[in-house]
Amino acid sequence: MIIAIDGPAASGKGTLAKRVAEHFGYACLDTGLLYRAVARDVARQGFRLEDIWAAIAAARGLDPASFDDPALRGTAAGDAASIVARIPVVRAALLTYQRDFARRPPGAVLDGRDIGTIVCPDADVKIFVTATPEIRAKRRFTEFEARGDTVAYETVLADILVRDARDSGRPNAPMAQAADAMLLDTSNLSIEAAFDAVVGLIKRKIGP
Ligand code: DC
Repeated sequence: MIIAIDGPAASGKGTLAKRVAEHFGYACLDTGLLYRAVARDVARQGFRLEDIWAAIAAARGLDPASFDDPALRGTAAGDAASIVARIPVVRAALLTYQRDFARRPPGAVLDGRDIGTIVCPDADVKIFVTATPEIRAKRRFTEFEARGDTVAYETVLADILVRDARDSGRPNAPMAQAADAMLLDTSNLSIEAAFDAVVGLIKRKIGP
């Protein structure tokens, strides 16, 4: 059983993916971590994120054991990831790891931008999670506030819009809803309601 959950930043897809995986006892892969780790490794080696050859070398030498690095969290790491993610050879280098993960028995949940379209086009369940940019910015802003970080809401919104445009505007494997994916708009939905909707969909697929 392969469950593909795609969507933009702060849509709630990561939280949903983890909860769904836990509920069904499936493995879970946050594929954004792969791109975040590539960007981290490029920067650590002293190269610019736009350096195609440095990014390709980092992607080919990626160590999955480093995916729980706290340096991969946060919006700066996400923005950096979005830059290296535009490079087609970087994306190609990360495909095998993601596809092998997806085949883990008894099932796997992968969340990202191109899971339903490119990584696992044959996934059993595909969901595209979204919410308006304003609501996503508000969620991020609330997280920042809770941590005591001072950042203007307008800045958070502008960052989200830039990231959306970069991820959906790239020619190679852009963020997109697969034709056979269910659209889940979480703008006015609690995480509980979104979770129930996804679990219901999967149960209908698995059967009684
Ligand atoms: O999901 P995230 O915010 O951790 O992702 C960070 C960036 O990585 C995202 O802005 C674009 C890129 N990404 C991608 O291109 N394809 C994926 N499947 C996952 C992430």
